[in-house]
Amino acid sequence: MSDRTWIGTSWKMTKTIGEAVAYARELRPEAVPDGVQPFVLPAHTGLAAVRDALPAGSPVLLGAQNAHWAAEGAGTGEVSMRMVADAGAVVVELGHSERRAAFGETDGTVARKVRAALDAGLTPLVCVGETAEVRDAGRAVEHVAGQVRAALAHVARDEVPRVLLAYEPVWAIGTGGRAAALGEVSPVLAEVAGLVRGLGAGTGCRALLYGGSVDRANAAGLLADAHVDGLFVGRAAWDVAGFLGLLRIASGVAGRG
Ligand code: PGA
Repeated sequence: MSDRTWIGTSWKMTKTIGEAVAYARELRPEAVPDGVQPFVLPAHTGLAAVRDALPAGSPVLLGAQNAHWAAEGAGTGEVSMRMVADAGAVVVELGHSERRAAFGETDGTVARKVRAALDAGLTPLVCVGETAEVRDAGRAVEHVAGQVRAALAHVARDEVPRVLLAYEPVWAIGTGGRAAALGEVSPVLAEVAGLVRGLGAGTGCRALLYGGSVDRANAAGLLADAHVDGLFVGRAAWDVAGFLGLLRIASGVAGRG
């Protein structure tokens, strides 16, 4: 369990460098409330510029949305872990459902990327989640547990506390997604939390996040789950006011804890 509430956003395929920089400049230390750990994941093109634009002392962690498992070589259109680290990333998101669905990301490639991220000194943020079909078949818990086990296949027990996990049901993500009720996702979160405690010899992962149609209306309710250490947000944090609003909600929840 994390001692802070993590609130992160992937900007996905939005924001020019100028737009990313304007957002980052708003993330002044005094704008970030106590008790939260914010992070932002720009597109690769914006990474270095956002690193340079984050105000001095900003507690916001910077990350990439993907990177290749290979150290270097013939990977047209790809970037390596070392390259995203060089551009300022300390976190790297791996296995998002959009990449699994459209770019051939598999449990096997995610596992290789997790290993490569750790070797590069990056914090992997591994995304897992079931489709509506899998849920309707009553296999959500088993499916997500399988994804977690596969992603951590090349991770040693003492490295599990370096890994961030995000449970994001595919049916809850994006424009066509449906916000989940806590009761729908709680059993999966409990299973994942227990699983990583076992894999990590009792300590668990660095933080377990929930994502999928998170917004300011449902954030506090989702953070109430005993196994949720934070939220991973898309659309509702694409403008900086939305992100800062979520940080304030998370800080209030942390304050009550
Ligand atoms: P959303 O995206 O918040 O826009 O549903 C979440 C995600 O893909 O991580």
